[in-house]
Amino acid sequence: MPTLKPAPAALAGSPPAPIQAGQYVPRVSLRPSEYTAALIQVLHGKAADWRGAQVLEIGSGSGVVLAALGAMGAASLFGVDIEVEAADEGLALLRELGYAAISRVEQGDMWLPAAGRRFDFIVANLPHFPMPPAPVKGRLASWSYGGGDGRELLNPFLAGLGQHLAPRGRAIITHNAFVDVEQSRAMLRPQGLGLRIAQTFWINIPDVKLELLTPAVLAAETGRTIHRYGPHAFADMHIVEIGALKHPD
Ligand SMILES: C[S@@+](CC[C@H](N)C(=O)[O-])C[C@H]1O[C@@H](n2cnc3c(N)ncnc32)[C@H](O)[C@@H]1O
Repeated sequence: MPTLKPAPAALAGSPPAPIQAGQYVPRVSLRPSEYTAALIQVLHGKAADWRGAQVLEIGSGSGVVLAALGAMGAASLFGVDIEVEAADEGLALLRELGYAAISRVEQGDMWLPAAGRRFDFIVANLPHFPMPPAPVKGRLASWSYGGGDGRELLNPFLAGLGQHLAPRGRAIITHNAFVDVEQSRAMLRPQGLGLRIAQTFWINIPDVKLELLTPAVLAAETGRTIHRYGPHAFADMHIVEIGALKHPD
């Protein structure tokens, strides 16, 4: 079992040395979020579907989503993360849990490390919070920053999905309800892909994130997908499933 002693957040300076076998300690800056929990919960509800699957996660962070898919019987686990320490820690977690032989985690941008490859199942919990670039609560800016409209990472992810899904392949991603779901659906349709909301969760938006949320999004979505009770705020967050359209237009 991994040690649960928290490691100091490594937020600045040169990247730390690669984690050696047996030295895995999770970084506080990569701790799983409420989004991660909701995503894994939905994956668990369909556990039989991932047995024997070749899996790719874009933005693998701590590696916990891949670890959960490994526990559900995935045949191979490929993680990609833009942050070198996330790639390092993700692989260390997968090794610690006994998945070394089926795991690969690469530091790189979005689809580049997986260029030319197709997967049975692609999962992503990408940064897609509409906000200016800023670190939030001990995380790197790359954890949450989705550009002013939340689509800076989401759009290239959706644009490349069709080229990386195997025939009959599927993707499951987190999708804030205050980031236009219909726009995502429209991006997928020309690729012969459809989207459905598998489940919706309420996610707490802490003050520090609420203050950063793009003002136009806050104004438009309060009372719709953002629910406020005095100083406390919650937002609808969808877990979205993407697969081949049964009847492409
Ligand atoms: C919200 S975190 C999710 C981490 C993990 N999947 C989880 O659920 O806990 C988003 C992750 O995406 C990574 N990321 C941001 N931009 C990326 C990019 N252009 N390519 C690949 N990964 C990226 C971040 O470094 C971060 O680890």
